[in-house]
Amino acid sequence: MRDVFVIGAGMTKFGELWEKSIKDIFVEAGLKAIEDAGVGYIDSLYVGAMSSGLFVGQEHLGAVMADYLGVNPVPATRVESACASGGVSFRQAYLEVASGASDIVLAGGVEKMTDGADVTDALATAADQEYEVYHGVTFPGLYAMIAKAHMHQYGTTRQQLAAVAVKNHRNGAKNPNAQFRFEVTLEQVLNSTRVADPLGLLDCSPVSDGGAAVILVSAEVARNLKKPLIRVIASSQASDTIALHSRPSFTTIGSVVKAAEKAYKMAGIKPTDVNLCEVHDCFTIAEIVVSEDLGFFEKGKGGEAVEKGLTALEGGKMPINTSGGLKSKGHPVGATGIAQIIEVYEQLSGKAGARQVKNARIGMAQNMGGSGASCVIHILEVK
Ligand code: COA
Repeated sequence: MRDVFVIGAGMTKFGELWEKSIKDIFVEAGLKAIEDAGVGYIDSLYVGAMSSGLFVGQEHLGAVMADYLGVNPVPATRVESACASGGVSFRQAYLEVASGASDIVLAGGVEKMTDGADVTDALATAADQEYEVYHGVTFPGLYAMIAKAHMHQYGTTRQQLAAVAVKNHRNGAKNPNAQFRFEVTLEQVLNSTRVADPLGLLDCSPVSDGGAAVILVSAEVARNLKKPLIRVIASSQASDTIALHSRPSFTTIGSVVKAAEKAYKMAGIKPTDVNLCEVHDCFTIAEIVVSEDLGFFEKGKGGEAVEKGLTALEGGKMPINTSGGLKSKGHPVGATGIAQIIEVYEQLSGKAGARQVKNARIGMAQNMGGSGASCVIHILEVK
């Protein structure tokens, strides 16, 4: 396999983008990425999208986006893995360049969720229809069950869950592309409208529109363009049961554990070598569980870690979700995995502005679908 480098990135602001269609959103992100990379053409294109058919009635997104991006006749493929669609889009592009099949590939992701579809129902198609959704379970409900189990098993507190939202809003307030650029207090999170006990409105990622794209290239292209060498040192993916009830434990996500194990092995590093990580905080409890499953903290200690500031941008030994995470930056599901890569890329290029982690050399992005039935992890390193 060949070395693969990320040389350009572009994204739209995340939020309620009423004035833009799904095509406008993807094209804006794609053109920004192509311009940032300084490439004159691309060999192929991937589009991560969870459910454009249900959200806006448009399928066949690979062809749609190639057409409107003006890159016909290059191959264009839509990738779907629920909320991990963006991360899997990146992985497909990575594999295409690594295999030698292409030299310059655009990996993108997009979702337009605010156009009037029943978002909760559309999102729930990523859970087990027969054994979960039929019985009325939604994603806030599934993660609430994970939270209850974690609280019961490890003594995680409501305050610790809320501390994740406080931290991520603090980071998101510094991100010009974030949906919610405001800070929240612990009291506001604790008193926010209950969505699924114990999770309140401010424990949830929002419903969002947005697009994101990056350009992946071979070493030869990166060197010819004289780009900083930001290499993908690991790409891994794993699966777990689709339904929560089939798992031996609600408090560990098997796909995250397995994908992390593979990623560390491929990169030849340990969790302590990672300087920052974007994790899939679709709900506050998800960040806590995942930060443990990635090996940053002992099992059961993720809540304590966030409360003690260990995951903070300022002074934390393991800064998590410097972008604001899904909680504050927003969660247009198909775009999320690519936006995570963009944060890592910007941090490693020293372009993260007020969110910059000093001396960041190795960054990780963890993206998952549903309640963790799919997980994809990438690790990038600046040479
Ligand atoms: N965080 C912070 N503020 C939020 C928010 C969130 N997650 N969701 C909505 N708001 C704000 C809105 O901006 C709005 O503010 P305003 O009154 O100042 O304009 C207000 O809360 C009400 O918004 P509304 O759109 O009516 O909220 P809602 O009750 O329809 O939806 C949730 C709130 C939490 C149910 C919805 O955001 C949700 O379903 N989130 C989870 C998405 C999800 O499951 N993703 C997949 C994960 S696997």
